[in-house]
Amino acid sequence: MQIKTAEFVISNQMVEKCPTNNLPEYAFIGRSNVGKSSLINMLTNQKNLAKTSGRPGKTQLINHFIINKEWFLVDLPGYGYARVSKSAKKTFQKFITAYFRDRKQLISAFVLVDIRHKPQPVDLAFMQWLGEHSVPFSIVFTKADKLRPKAIEDHIDTYKNILLETWEELPNYFITSSTNYAGKDALLNYINTINEDLNNSTDRLPFQ
Ligand code: GTP
Ligand code: MG
Repeated sequence: MQIKTAEFVISNQMVEKCPTNNLPEYAFIGRSNVGKSSLINMLTNQKNLAKTSGRPGKTQLINHFIINKEWFLVDLPGYGYARVSKSAKKTFQKFITAYFRDRKQLISAFVLVDIRHKPQPVDLAFMQWLGEHSVPFSIVFTKADKLRPKAIEDHIDTYKNILLETWEELPNYFITSSTNYAGKDALLNYINTINEDLNNSTDRLPFQ
């Protein structure tokens, strides 16, 4: 899929205030600093569409970006960042939970995990929660440029084995790098296929 346009639309903390047109959307979630905002910039060929930082806790709101005027990418705050105050954490948790629970336009989530790390309890718990709330998701391994191919393979195997302890089927997954563009085509093609299926389906979104 070719990205012709990518524009910022709105930021907010309230799912009720997110765009009300019924375009399909895809949300990026994961621990702070995992590379959610960088991945959005990589996918859209832009440097600063989503704000990034070396310091965790940069993205603090629900951010909608409209792509090709047809669908949304959504950048969210990270979870699991210890240095954010307790009250800020609670606020994040509240509106992120509301977003995933109530946002009918959400077609699929992408849960980002840093490929260098062992499966983290907070990520596994979040995937579990998505499953319990029937939110479809894929896993996106980030920062693949930091490991050699053999190490990537080993880390993915470890991840799969741990997931298979609780999941019957493995979720889709993508191996990505925002610095060397790995995984870009695979991810965009995946979204494109879903969008085409939705366009061809008569009962497009359940609430229309
Ligand atoms: P929060 O908004 O704080 O939750 O973080 P985030 O998940 O949006 O992470 P962000 O995109 O801001 O990136 C965090 C840091 O990781 C930045 O210093 C990025 O340059 C770096 N980074 C992100 N993706 C990659 C990648 O694929 N490879 C490498 N080497 N660094 C990356
Ligand atoms: Mg961010």
